[in-house]
Amino acid sequence: MEEVDLIIQNAGQVATCSSPAGPKRGPEMQDAGLISDGAIAIRGNEIAAVEERKFIQSNYTARKIIDAQGMAVCPGFVDPHTHVVYASNRVNEFELRIKGTSYLEIMAAGGGIVSTTRAVRSASVNELVDQAWSRLDAMLQLGTTSVEIKTGYGLDAANEMKMLEVIEILASKHPCTIVPTFLGGHAIPSEFKNNPEDYVDLVIEKMIPEAAEWYERSLFKRNKIPFCCDVFIENNAFNFEQSRRIFNAASKAGLGIKIHADEFTSLGGVSLAVEFNALSADHLDATNAEDRAQLAASHTIAVVLPGVNFNLGSSQFANARALIDEGCALALATDFNPGSAPCPSQPLIMAIASRYQKLLPAETLNACTINAAHALGLGDRVGSIEPGKKADLIILKTADYRFLSYEFGGNLVDTVIKNGVVQ
Ligand code: NIG
Ligand code: FE
Repeated sequence: MEEVDLIIQNAGQVATCSSPAGPKRGPEMQDAGLISDGAIAIRGNEIAAVEERKFIQSNYTARKIIDAQGMAVCPGFVDPHTHVVYASNRVNEFELRIKGTSYLEIMAAGGGIVSTTRAVRSASVNELVDQAWSRLDAMLQLGTTSVEIKTGYGLDAANEMKMLEVIEILASKHPCTIVPTFLGGHAIPSEFKNNPEDYVDLVIEKMIPEAAEWYERSLFKRNKIPFCCDVFIENNAFNFEQSRRIFNAASKAGLGIKIHADEFTSLGGVSLAVEFNALSADHLDATNAEDRAQLAASHTIAVVLPGVNFNLGSSQFANARALIDEGCALALATDFNPGSAPCPSQPLIMAIASRYQKLLPAETLNACTINAAHALGLGDRVGSIEPGKKADLIILKTADYRFLSYEFGGNLVDTVIKNGVVQ
């Protein structure tokens, strides 16, 4: 008998999402790695074993036992694309959109990302931490245990650094695992409206070097959490050449690469992602078959964000079905932000993806767990229930994990365990 710290027993179903060889692709995404009548042994913050109940019962003892009462247990969700550090809100723009103004029109008229930038610039570090903290709490209650957070509402050196400082404070105190991403290339700030190239120079010459230096002395580097540079390639944001210049500088400074690609317009973002061996290419709404083939042949994870289409009232969604069928490793994310997706819930994203993108519940679960972990470079640590991984688990209020996609609008998560600790 081996003594561990915690045993979760009597799980009617454990959806392990196990995938030791890397992210899941194609038909592998239909396999949730189910163990019926399972149990999980946890030592410290790590999973020691996941097996059938009888095996755990006869091999492990623990002082603390949680009875899952026949319900399903899944990995904690990984949300690989968010902008949860922001101030204020854009509920007025929401009303404008209901009346017919489009997201891109609002952006071109000086609203959108740059309006949140005004709010972030005038907010203090503490205010930003407090507001993001409650968003992270909401996400944790909905089962998300690892979250990527982007900068991109500072858009000058001091305020982008302020956002990185906020992200590091959150990471040092909040139970969620947090992954920072530098998104100085999110929008052209209003003061550079007439000379965008000068803003790109500022990103390259000042912001990236400062961000790279910050990372070197940050807790993220110490904890081996990757740090990427992201760019929004789009009309009225950054064009192909500008995005490429930013990625060149970021790669030279040792940052990984992520990209907001093909959200509304296909401008070559997928080629850039593949050229720079990006961890992920995100959105992919306007991605054509040729670019899907490029992604399928690469290591880059395809991250789709159907909460954005839903929130913008669109009936057009990224062709996630084709992405999977053609061999990409697909992940799902909320894109939680005040404009295009004010949504903390990975299960709601799963529900949307099943209905509008024709993904099976197992595909949505793998996309929100193991593949999402790989989109952050954390595939060796989180995203599945496997020995040696962090003990990040959720016990559901239902015996069948497929209810995560099937039901929507409530919260099917009963218990969240992060790093072996009940939250
Ligand atoms: O992923 N597309 C660019 N960035 C975000 C939107 C951020 C915002 O509207 O504030 C996105 O959709
Ligand atoms: Fe985004």
